[in-house]
This record gives sequence, C-alpha cells and structure tokens, in this order.
Amino acid sequence: MARDIWFETVSIAQERARKRLPKSAYSSLISASEKGLTVADNVEAFGEIGFAPHVIGAHDKRDLSTTVMGQDVSLPVLISPTGVQAVHPDGEVAVARAAAARGTAMGLSSFASKPIEEVIAANPKLFFQIYWLGDRDAITARVERARAAGAVGLILTTDWSFSHGRDWGSPKIPEKMDLKTIVKMSPEVVTKPRWFLQWAKTMRPPTLAVPNQGAKGEPGPPFFQAYGEWMGTPPPTWEDVAWLREMWGGPFMLKGVIRVDDAKRAVDAGVSAISVSNHGGNNLDGTPASIRALPAIAEAVGEQVEVLLDGGIRRGSDVVKALALGARAVMIGRAYLWGLAAEGQPGVENVLDLMEGGIASALRGLGKASVHDLCPDDVLVPAGFTRTLGVPTERPEGADD
Ligand SMILES: Cc1cc2nc3c(=O)[nH]c(=O)nc-3n(C[C@H](O)[C@H](O)[C@H](O)COP(=O)(O)O)c2cc1C
Repeated sequence: MARDIWFETVSIAQERARKRLPKSAYSSLISASEKGLTVADNVEAFGEIGFAPHVIGAHDKRDLSTTVMGQDVSLPVLISPTGVQAVHPDGEVAVARAAAARGTAMGLSSFASKPIEEVIAANPKLFFQIYWLGDRDAITARVERARAAGAVGLILTTDWSFSHGRDWGSPKIPEKMDLKTIVKMSPEVVTKPRWFLQWAKTMRPPTLAVPNQGAKGEPGPPFFQAYGEWMGTPPPTWEDVAWLREMWGGPFMLKGVIRVDDAKRAVDAGVSAISVSNHGGNNLDGTPASIRALPAIAEAVGEQVEVLLDGGIRRGSDVVKALALGARAVMIGRAYLWGLAAEGQPGVENVLDLMEGGIASALRGLGKASVHDLCPDDVLVPAGFTRTLGVPTERPEGADD
C-alpha cells in the first residue's frame, strides 16, 4: 500500500522536514538571526489577533481569486523567493510545478539552485528576485536574462544586513559538495537514509552553485563567491531603485518594507508593489512582526501600490487576518520549504491546499463571499498590537527635550 503522505497542518510538515533532513539542512531552513526575536514575533503576533464570526450568513461559494502584479492567482498566497540549497533534488522546479498546479505565482531567488529557464518552464507566473549585487552592468545582465526567460515581474530585496550570529548556532555550509565533504557529512547523513536515497537516485550531489548569478547555460558561481561579492557591493540608494524599476519596465516589487516613510518613498520610486516584510526574521533581529507594521503601511500607500505581506504565515486563517488588515495577498516562505523537504512537489501542493482550505473556512465563519470583502471589522486587534514605524510622533506640549 502506498504511504499516506498527506499532512493536516504546516506544523506537521515542519516536524516531518526535521526528521527527514540532515541537521544542517534543516537548520538552514529555520535560519533567523541573533536571538530569534523577530522570527518568533512574526508567528506569535498572528495568535494575538482574534476573529469576529457571524452565527448565520455564511455563503455557500467563496471566491479566493485575485491578481498580483498583473497575474491572476487562484488564491491570495504566493511563493516567496528563498535561496534553498540541498533540501530536495527537484528544488525550485518542484515548487514551481506545485504553484502552477494550484494556480499561483512564484518568486524565484537569485540564490536559487535551479536555472530560471527550467523553473519558468514549470510555472510561467514567475517573478525573478534580485539582490543588489555587483555594478549596474552586472545587474542589467541578470535582469535581461530573466526578461529573455519570460519572467513576468521583478522583486528587489534590499533588507539584508549581513548579521551572521545565531544563539542556537549556524549550520556549517560547505564550500562545495565533493567526495571529501560528503564523507565529512556522513555521520549526519547516515541517520537520514530517505533524504540520502533521494539524492543518490539522481547520481549528482546537491550543487552549491547559484546558476542565476551567472550567464545562461553556465553553472554559475559558487554560493560563497556570490555572497562575498554581494557583501562587497555598495548598498543601493532610492535613485538605484528608480533606475532598476525603469530599466525593467514591468511589474516591480520592493520586498522588505517595514516603515511608512520607506513605503512612501517606494511609491515615489515608481514601484508597483511592496511586501511588508522583515525577511522572515533573517534581517535585523528586533524588527517587529510584519503583521504589526501592515495596518499603518496599508493605510498610507494601499491606494497607490499593491501591498503584500510576508512573515509568519502558517495557516489560511493567518492569510485572512493579513487581508483584513489591508494586504492584497501574502507570500509564504518556510511553510512551503517544509512541505518541499517533507514530500517534494506534493508536499508544497499540500501546503497550498491547507492555505486554501483555511481561507475558505475563515471566510465561511466571517460570512464573506470573497477575499475582497474582508475588512478590519472582521478581526479583533488588541490595544497596542500595531507598530507604526517611520511616522514622526507629535510631541505632547511641555514634553522635556
Ligand atoms: C531559508 C530561507 C531563505 C530565504 N532566501 C531568500 C532569498 O533568497 N531572497 C529573498 O528575497 N528572501 C529570502 N527569504 C525570505 C522569504 O522570502 C520570506 O520573506 C520569509 O521566509 C517569510 O517568512 P516565513 O518564512 O515566516 O513565511 C528566505 C527565507 C528563508 C527562511
């Protein structure tokens, strides 16, 4: 009899991923920085928001579809770009297939392990994500490759501050996967036979190169070489953002906005979308949960650009809370990575199905026919929950300097 691979919550997928992966691979999925304050707040903050359901008034059909950056999506949940290595042999291609099967779009990291041309063949609703790495000519070359491959949007991620310490220790990522490394890793790997067999069947070890940082058809530089170049690149200015947006010319998202003033400057730079995000707690630890920052940002710029949110989404009801507080859609990171690590493509489909089912039941409970009808009235936000960053506070008269 075939093994039943279905899981009923993202938490169970996480537990399965933990059991299946070698310790260092699982630990790179958990990631986060410093003390882990932000990564914890991202998830826990959703638990502080309540619902205000109706007893009668549910609709028998519920519409979950929307559009994001010009793409029709069948649910307001997109795949956030993640640079994943060695989690599953099919990696981003499996994720793209799953997203396509469930009718949604995908962000592809420039640190992904598969070439964009292969991923786009599996899901044409693909936004290519870039970091500010190298000079304008190098960035142009990567953008032109993405354009030629057929990418339908660009995501610029700038919220990265090269903070590398974690109180629970960081995984040791090898320079390259050769025989010596495999032998060194063997004590970790022998305890994870299923993971090892998956790779053994492909007859090639996990590659630690980043193919989308190089030219089409080439293997791309090793991860650490690209990372070092990124560290050595002067950070972008708002003029650079406007330049890139104009050079690309199509739908463009700035990911990692957490302050109202930055959201307004992003609008001035001409972006079509922003994602309210703190890089899943991987950037500056102590940044508030993105859901806490969402209401003020949505209020300030929601009429001018598409406002998305990512960070801490683990259930369909989290998606509904974010939409009620002003997001057009959300992006998920760890949730699908755990699904991928646990069961490959069907695992990612399972995660998207859980999101869909959870959104549908929350809409039913709230008596809403469509995700577009959600509003702040549907949720209970406790006093002091939100964080409004980047808005000058008025000082009460007579306050001391
Ligand atoms: C392992 C891992 C790798 C990531 N790599 C990238 C990346 O390459 N580019 C990017 O824009 N964001 C990256 N992110 C951030 C995600 O796109 C997203 O912002 C975050 O995962 C959302 O939080 P969640 O994991 O709680 O859903 C990464 C996140 C994780 C967990």
